[in-house]
Amino acid sequence: MSNQLEKVKELIALREEARLGGGEKAIQKQHERGKYTARERIAQLLDEGSFEEIDMFVRHRCYNFGQEKKSYLGDGVVTGYGTIEGRLVYVFAQDFTVFGGSLSETMALKICKIMDMAMKMGAPVIGLNDSGGARIQEGINALAGYAEIFQRNILASGVIPQISAILGPCAGGAVYSPALTDFTIMTKGISYMFLTGPKVVKTVTGEDVTQEALGGAAVHAQKSGVAHFAAEDGEETLSIIRKLFSYIPQNNLEEPPLVECNDPIDRLEDSLNDIIPDSANRPYDMYEVIGAIVDNGEFLEIQRDYAKNIIIGFARFNGQAVGVVANQPKFLAGVLDSNASRKGARFVRFCDAFNIPLVTLVDVPGFLPGTGQEYNGVILHGAKLLYAYGEATVPKVTVTLRKSYGGSHIVMSCKQLRGDMNYAWPTAEIAVMGGAGAVEVLYAKEAKASENPAQVLQEKEAEYNKLFCNPYNAARYGYIDDVIEPRNTRFRIIRALQQLATKKVVNPAKKHGNIPL
Ligand code: HXC
Repeated sequence: MSNQLEKVKELIALREEARLGGGEKAIQKQHERGKYTARERIAQLLDEGSFEEIDMFVRHRCYNFGQEKKSYLGDGVVTGYGTIEGRLVYVFAQDFTVFGGSLSETMALKICKIMDMAMKMGAPVIGLNDSGGARIQEGINALAGYAEIFQRNILASGVIPQISAILGPCAGGAVYSPALTDFTIMTKGISYMFLTGPKVVKTVTGEDVTQEALGGAAVHAQKSGVAHFAAEDGEETLSIIRKLFSYIPQNNLEEPPLVECNDPIDRLEDSLNDIIPDSANRPYDMYEVIGAIVDNGEFLEIQRDYAKNIIIGFARFNGQAVGVVANQPKFLAGVLDSNASRKGARFVRFCDAFNIPLVTLVDVPGFLPGTGQEYNGVILHGAKLLYAYGEATVPKVTVTLRKSYGGSHIVMSCKQLRGDMNYAWPTAEIAVMGGAGAVEVLYAKEAKASENPAQVLQEKEAEYNKLFCNPYNAARYGYIDDVIEPRNTRFRIIRALQQLATKKVVNPAKKHGNIPL
């Protein structure tokens, strides 16, 4: 065998060794835990055969605690690039078979390298997390590695999309990289995220809690809002990432992909002409409205189980991706509270950063009153949504279906927050407040002094409702651009989006604003 052939053979052997990560036994253990390996996950995520691995021969350079005797090719992360539906993406997948995927100095360098490449090329970064946190033997070098990653997450924010999947442990400071990215998808049963684990919790607070109850997928999808999706298993986690990408552009200078639309743009949806119940206090389901107007009824909902009084997600109109924000009258009457405001605000800002037009469907009775909300800072949280809509320069189309009262009217993409096309259904009620509350303020004394207080209030309420609880008062001032037939909503939104395709608005130059965090 020639020298060259021998060297090629050696290369092939080294590659095979690297592909085994922490070795066959560790792979078997990973499978027994119900988890796939880093390379198996990448293969599921990317277009077949598209993955190009880099830094396969990197090894850690730690000499503490006998680490020099234990090292693996590639260290604890697999990095590289490939495609999703033919579009370039950069990926890192932590390899739990190598020191439990714990982060070493060299692992951080590998991750930072592909993050830098992604920024240079203007392509998204996907992180598949499955790690025991900082590699304890490496001490401060592991912490420095985390900080290097966080710094890049921050600089890449709003420039390239960043998506995190949590497919195993993600604890301690390691949680901050996913938290800094745009979307976090957790996997039920095998993933958890927390700053401090159950043992530390017990020591510090005396609280007994399991990993699952402290930071499992359900907790973060329903209670904390840290996770945008809770997938049933690893495969679903990765398929959600692929789906998400179909709606978002490669970077902040590009438009989202346009797909062919076979759903007629002028499809009339008769059911919408009769969906609003006669009684103002009876709910209907906003999902039905969304399903009826978007292309083929397809809606990728985000944070489905968190703050259900507001619905956010991606859909398409005539093949064009949009972000949908909608109040849900079926849950807490669609009221805005702290969590709903934060949920909406972050989504609006993502869409604005990545040139995704916003379609807002309004049916909101107001902000949730009470000490619970006020003590929780609902003023600041509501202001986040206000700020997000007000600073957004993407096309903004708003349709008011029913209630739109007071501060919540303003916050939900009203005309003065630079709403581009603001439509209302004939059932819209756009006013400072609801009729019953208004007459209580204005006529309580007069009613008390009369022989029949209830009748006075009733009459005044009817007068108020006639004057204000309709769309025409707002339309009279041009605050509503048109009152539209509900069944024609899809067509009117599509026309508006077509018209707005060349919209150009630039905010004043500044270092950055000071959103009320
Ligand atoms: C080095 C680690 C490690 C770590 C796991 N391993 N975590 N090695 N540093 N942080 C190693 C284990 O020693 C073991 O090696 C292998 O990975 C697999 O781990 P197991 O414990 O056998 O697996 P499992 O039973 O599934 O438990 C997984 C685990 C547990 C829950 C993640 O390993 C664990 O609790 N690890 C420590 C987690 C932790 O406290 N991390 C915080 C570090 S400080 P062998 O050779 O036996 O196979 C931190 C601060 C970051 O993260 C701050 C950033 C800003």
